Amino acid sequence: MGKIMVVEHPLLKHKVTHLRDQATGTKEFKELVSEIAMLLCYEATRDLPTEDVEVVTPICTCKSPVLSGRKLALVPILRAGLGMVDGMLAMIPAAKVGHIGLYRNEETLEPVEYYCKLPADIAERDVFVLDPMLATGGSAVDAITQIKKRGAKSIKFLGLIAAPEGLKRLSDAHPDVDIYVAQLDERLNEVGYIVPGLGDAGDRIFGTK
Ligand code: PRP
Ligand code: URA
Repeated sequence: MGKIMVVEHPLLKHKVTHLRDQATGTKEFKELVSEIAMLLCYEATRDLPTEDVEVVTPICTCKSPVLSGRKLALVPILRAGLGMVDGMLAMIPAAKVGHIGLYRNEETLEPVEYYCKLPADIAERDVFVLDPMLATGGSAVDAITQIKKRGAKSIKFLGLIAAPEGLKRLSDAHPDVDIYVAQLDERLNEVGYIVPGLGDAGDRIFGTK
């Protein structure tokens, strides 16, 4: 079974509260999503291997660790996952970025795929799948299935807010995938929105409502 990590940190909780606030405008919302992505990235990359190199400081020469050449990829689920890319790249600038496009059919709540373009060597990369919202879990499960079909073997999912239903569906469908979220909320409502949640993440990031 993969790890499920609800990251506990006062900075994260503070930022999630501002995200929830309906008075938070598009500019600040985008900045907060990016900052939370950075903090989640910090947690989700704890197990990256390092190796010592020699470095000359102004004082002396010493051995000091650097990341040891693991190849990384980010795959945001369009649209809302795009909001997390800049924050992740600020931490791991060498990562390549693929894209997978899914939207939820608003009646069935099932995901419909419309786009997928991944780095050619995705099979050799540690992949971070990004989506702010894990609601029913349908989008994340489907995106990860498609990414695995293209050869990826090492996958983590990073999200801002999860519903218990989505966490369970994702970890049941992909038990090998570690899940990192900033907040676990109470439930889904009758139309598949997370309660209390933050509303429609894509619309709030891109100002489309
Ligand atoms: C939202 C969100 C997730 C999905 C989560 O996207 O960004 O991708 O819903 O819901 P689920 O866990 O029930 O699948 P949406 O389908 O609204 O598309 P958008 O990002 O293009 O707005
Ligand atoms: N997608 C969103 O953007 N928000 C939710 O609460 C559920 C799905």
